[in-house]
Amino acid sequence: MSYSSSIAQKRDARICLLQSRTTGQMGRANLCCCDTMARMDKQPTVLITRRIPTSLLQRIEAECTVRYWDSDDAIPRQELLVQAAGVTGIYCLIPDRIDAEVVEKAGPALRVVSTMSVGVDHIDVAACRARRVAVGHTPDVLTETTADLTLALMLATARRLPEAIAAVKEGSWGTWRPFWMTGIDLYGSTVGIVGLGRIGVAVARRLLGFGCNILYTGRHPNERNALAAQASFRSFDSLLAESDIVTVHCPLTAETHHLIDASALHKMKRTALLINTSRGPVVDQDALYAALVDGTIGGAGLDVTTPEPLPPVHPLLTLPNCVVLPHIGSATVATRRRMATIAADNLVAGVLGRPLPFAVATEL
Ligand code: NDP
Ligand code: DGY
Repeated sequence: MSYSSSIAQKRDARICLLQSRTTGQMGRANLCCCDTMARMDKQPTVLITRRIPTSLLQRIEAECTVRYWDSDDAIPRQELLVQAAGVTGIYCLIPDRIDAEVVEKAGPALRVVSTMSVGVDHIDVAACRARRVAVGHTPDVLTETTADLTLALMLATARRLPEAIAAVKEGSWGTWRPFWMTGIDLYGSTVGIVGLGRIGVAVARRLLGFGCNILYTGRHPNERNALAAQASFRSFDSLLAESDIVTVHCPLTAETHHLIDASALHKMKRTALLINTSRGPVVDQDALYAALVDGTIGGAGLDVTTPEPLPPVHPLLTLPNCVVLPHIGSATVATRRRMATIAADNLVAGVLGRPLPFAVATEL
């Protein structure tokens, strides 16, 4: 019997077991447990909250008993709470809120929460730390991919690409007109980076090729990154006032929640663009909508929104000067594979009591 067919059989058997435990019903949904009863007694149990590549599942299964949400859709909150009970490790994704309640439900066996993302705003890191639970994430491997997407979004917004493409398809492309579909230059512009970390630096390196003047702001100057980015430090307010494009690359924290609010938007140039590939709640979206409608700023490009997914009827989507993408910053096959692999490595290391290859920094 091949390994994959053996897994399939075990999954079928486990669906019944877990479902009778959780809902008392048979034949429902996607939760599988890829191991035998005997192994469950001996090995640490982990919860994987989303379908992952089979090779990684097999690697984890070699060390752990796996409770597996075998679906591309998010595990429902109630199921997450039930299935977290007693686990040693949790492999999670951005939509899974790993808060104090989940950590509490998991109980004293929990050693590691491993997320397939660099951002950890969906995890209560303090609650994990209080219980000596390690938190793993996936920095570096998605930096360049996310920077590429940021540049794509910047150019799409500055040069009005979605509007232009729609005009071609709708037949409103008439004769060549001098000022039809005109945007702003990325070439030679001043770009202000909010949060000059890994992705901020990678974005800056790309912008240097466009002849941009690069400013950055943050909690404090970072000389090493500033050198790599050839960027000059500014106060938050000065950066907003001087930049033709403001691009946001800080993490979502209590401090950065609604960092870009109505007051910040009013400090920007009326022609300026706001680009956000960090997290939706860093921007006060209602204030942004108002600023885009009344001309406080020129336009916005968002890879991240509040909520996600943004409902198709959301007012932002009616605005020609707002480009919205569905959180695809790291979405290349190679990068997502690398992220999934690191998340598996972090999980296995954590349950075995080893140092995580990519642990969230303790000062967070
Ligand atoms: P880093 O930690 O390398 O960089 C974050 C930077 O933000 C640091 O320089 C940090 O500086 C700075 N920062 C922290 N707090 C503030 C603040 N209050 N004001 C301004 N700057 C601040 O992270 P990455 O570059 O790897 O990732 C950044 C974020 O991008 C992630 O947290 C995630 O939310 C998002 N992301 C989104 C993706 C997408 O698909 N759209 C893909 C990948 C990441 P310091 O700590 O020194 O103050
Ligand atoms: C992250 O990793 O934080 C992104 O939002 C998804 O790649």
